[in-house]
Amino acid sequence: MNGGPAVMDDPLVAAALTARQNAFAPFSKFKVGAAVEGSDGRIHTGCNVENATYSLTVCAERVAVFKGVSEGERRFKRVAVAADTEKLTPPCGACRQILWEFCGDVEIVLVNPRGRIEEYRLKELFPKPFDVSYL
Ligand code: THU
Repeated sequence: MNGGPAVMDDPLVAAALTARQNAFAPFSKFKVGAAVEGSDGRIHTGCNVENATYSLTVCAERVAVFKGVSEGERRFKRVAVAADTEKLTPPCGACRQILWEFCGDVEIVLVNPRGRIEEYRLKELFPKPFDVSYL
């Protein structure tokens, strides 16, 4: 689906696209931005931050969630992920686990800089999560 200008007017989508510009991705060159809307309406953003060890890289989604948590937020009601791909980039497996913990079955908007957009529920992407209900 092509969202057009209305999509770019969505503050959460705009925040994810803007955050992407700060991506630190010298190794993969694959820049990602994310934005999460807290239960109080505040938006927290993140970008991927890579490391020369590769494995210490942190994805944009986790940076956004952790920034929000560190600001006192505990629950997020929407998530946007921005990358420059035609096949829109979804959160990786590790991020799906973290998103489940802090968002539950949240709406996830995937977008690219040309306004292509898709919406999912986390449960579609992550149908049988492990969580506190098993502990
Ligand atoms: N990456 C993210 O930040 N989020 C995603 O949803 C997919 C992958 C990052 C990790 C790494 O810096 C680069 O993209 C390539 O995997």
